[in-house]
Amino acid sequence: MAPSLLAANFLELGNEVEMVNRSEADWFHLDVMDGRFVPNISYGMPIIAQIKKKANKPCDVHLMIEEPEKYAADFKKAGADSLTVHLEACVHLHRNIQQIKGLGMRAGVALNPHTPVMLLENVIRDLDVVLIMSVNPGFGGQTFIEQTYHKIQQLRQLITESNAHALIEVDGGVGPENAARLVKAGANVLVAGSAVFSSPDPEKTIRLLKTSAQ
Ligand code: DX5
Ligand code: ZN
Repeated sequence: MAPSLLAANFLELGNEVEMVNRSEADWFHLDVMDGRFVPNISYGMPIIAQIKKKANKPCDVHLMIEEPEKYAADFKKAGADSLTVHLEACVHLHRNIQQIKGLGMRAGVALNPHTPVMLLENVIRDLDVVLIMSVNPGFGGQTFIEQTYHKIQQLRQLITESNAHALIEVDGGVGPENAARLVKAGANVLVAGSAVFSSPDPEKTIRLLKTSAQ
C-alpha cells in the first residue's frame, strides 16, 4: 500500500510523512507532473529531497513528464528508490528502463487507461513495477475506471507467461471499496491519495487498505 502525498496537507508535510512512517504503508508514492504530459503541475526534486530526509520507507516516484530521461539522475539524487516513467512519454522505452536500472533504482513503467498491456511484451522481464493507471493521470480524486480489473488480469497473465517478476501497482480512484477486488484481479501495490488523506483517520484507512490487500 502506497499513500500518494499529492493529497497531503503541504503546510503539514513533516507531520504527514511521520504519519505514513508510523502507518502500515509500504512505500511513499510521489507524483511529479510537468504541465505538458499531463494538464497539471505538482512538485519536483526539492520537495522529494525533503520528504526523503524524514521517510523511513522507500520513495516510489511516478513521473508524469515528457523526456523523463533528462531528469532520471536528478530524481535518484533527490532520493527516489523506484522511478516510474509513462510508456506514452517514452520514444526509447527500453533505453529509459536500462538508464533507471543503471542508476540503481527499481524501474517502473506506467500505462494510461487506453494503453494496451501487450505493448509491454518485449520489456516485461526487465521491469520491477508496472503501474496501471485507473484514472487519466494528472489529478487526484477522480473516479475509478472499471475496465482496470480486466487490464490487471491481462497483465497478470503476461507476467506469468513471461516468467517476469514485475509488481502490479494500481493508481487512481483506489479506496476501501475496490481494494479487495483489485488484489483479487492480481494487483500487488495499491496507491491511494484522497482515500487516505481525506479520511478522518488516515492511519486506520491505510491499515484497512493493507488488510484488504491480503
Ligand atoms: C494521479 C496520480 C495519483 C493520484 C491518485 O495522476 O498519479 O497518484 O495522487 O489520487 P487518488 O487516490 O485521489 O485518485
Ligand atoms: Zn501516481
